[in-house]
Amino acid sequence: MSDQPITSKDTALRAEPVTFFRKNRREFLQQLGTGAGIVAIGYQGVASLRSLVPNVSYDAPTTVKLGMPTDFPDGLKFLPDLRLFVFREGKVFHAISAVCTHLGCTVRAEALGQPETRTIGGQPLRMTHRFQCPCHGSRYEGDGSNVAGPAPKPLAWYHLSIAPDDGQLVADLAQQVDNDFRLALA
Ligand code: FES
Repeated sequence: MSDQPITSKDTALRAEPVTFFRKNRREFLQQLGTGAGIVAIGYQGVASLRSLVPNVSYDAPTTVKLGMPTDFPDGLKFLPDLRLFVFREGKVFHAISAVCTHLGCTVRAEALGQPETRTIGGQPLRMTHRFQCPCHGSRYEGDGSNVAGPAPKPLAWYHLSIAPDDGQLVADLAQQVDNDFRLALA
């Protein structure tokens, strides 16, 4: 033990590390508290935004089973729920939308007095009907081409396929195809 008296300078030197540590600890705790607050607010914000988005999709499915191919007569079958015309000629199918391209009314099919055959994209198309819109009078030929009235473009054609699990005819209402598309069954 030293007999030297302790001066105020010595006390200050010894006290300094303790004060420094306390100060840093206080700052650290303050920053930790601030950080935790920001994280909590961010989490709440994300949770609030997430609650605005439903967990389930209410969009209608775009791929729809239409029934067995044998359920479709030769000629035309109208599916009112889907607003879709399905045409069959033997083992060959195609589907044309019944939604008018003007403002979306449902067009009506009118049987032709005499069926016409036209070659489209190298594919023969036997046309048994034409289409008329009751709203503003647009008219379409049997291949969906707009020929009169305010309709700005042809009726849509949709992709058809056969469901691998049960052999039903399937329409993909999100997949438009050209008017030379045919589904030909074996
Ligand atoms: S909605 Fe069909 S002609 Fe206007």
